[in-house]
Amino acid sequence: MHVFLAGATGAVGRQLVPLLHRAGHRVTAASRSEGGVAWLREQGADAVRLDVLDRGATAEAVAAAAPDAIVHQLTALADGSLAENARIRREGTRSLVDAARRAGVPRIVAQSICWAYGPGDEPADETEALDTGAPEPRATTVDGVLALELAAAELPEAVVLRYGMLHGPGTWYEPGGLIEQRLRRGELAADGAVTSFLHVTDAARAAVAALYWPSGAVNIVDDEPAPARKWVPVLARALGVAAPEPSSDRPRWARGADGGLARTAYGWRPVEGSWRTSFERLGGPRAGS
Ligand SMILES: NC(=O)c1ccc[n+]([C@@H]2O[C@H](COP(=O)([O-])OP(=O)(O)OC[C@H]3O[C@@H](n4cnc5c(N)ncnc54)[C@H](OP(=O)(O)O)[C@@H]3O)[C@@H](O)[C@H]2O)c1
Repeated sequence: MHVFLAGATGAVGRQLVPLLHRAGHRVTAASRSEGGVAWLREQGADAVRLDVLDRGATAEAVAAAAPDAIVHQLTALADGSLAENARIRREGTRSLVDAARRAGVPRIVAQSICWAYGPGDEPADETEALDTGAPEPRATTVDGVLALELAAAELPEAVVLRYGMLHGPGTWYEPGGLIEQRLRRGELAADGAVTSFLHVTDAARAAVAALYWPSGAVNIVDDEPAPARKWVPVLARALGVAAPEPSSDRPRWARGADGGLARTAYGWRPVEGSWRTSFERLGGPRAGS
């Protein structure tokens, strides 16, 4: 397949370029920067310098590539702004989907998240509704996710990957990253909020596999949804930081996600292990002591 990859230099995209090549696909990949374009060329991709918020340039780039599928791994999270990220979900997806429709590209695989479901007590499966009507700041995130998923679904074949919270290389959870900094500043609660995690390499593998999946949304998560009071102490121990006092407070939407559909219908499963394996490894010899 010829794949047009948007978000090719991000945490998932960087891993995806070689995986797509190894699976025999041709890759045209986009970045806004000269450095990104140069890196993508070194990886053997056809690279295009593109800001997807420029709708005309996006239409031209997609038409020129004439791919079989678009893989959308765009986020705008480098500076942690929920509003910027919602904007790229809404306007970036709109731009890509319009470009695909004009160029006759039938298929999109798009990155979404698994924590936009409405309230509940068990991990959510894909039949459950998104949490529309939630108060801010959550509304910004959920509305962005909804716009992304609805726009993607305008194409004849659209797979939406509702990823768990990414950990592993290049993510907030790598040593010295955002989460370690928050832990050291005492800003991380060990409460009852449940998270479903996903190793970033498993996220990239799922995107390759999803090129052949049927249309629809699918949770892509590890096998161990966990409350913060369970995973925060594991992370704190590995990093040699005192763990915060545990509590059982939980926003009712923080319930994790059920990964059964990906496993039973599509045969996808995580191969990198759960958050536990990854966090324990962060401490090297200290882990488990
Ligand atoms: N599910 C999750 O938990 C999840 C998902 C994604 C990210 N994250 C976190 O967010 C952090 C930052 O993510 P990241 O490293 O992937 O970086 P990022 O800044 O979010 O960028 C991701 C990708 O989107 C591209 N992009 C953004 N805006 C664009 C635009 N207007 N036009 C074209 N391309 C655009 C970037 O390309 P260029 O900059 O090369 O143009 C890059 O390839 C990570 O540490 C990760 O932990 C978490």
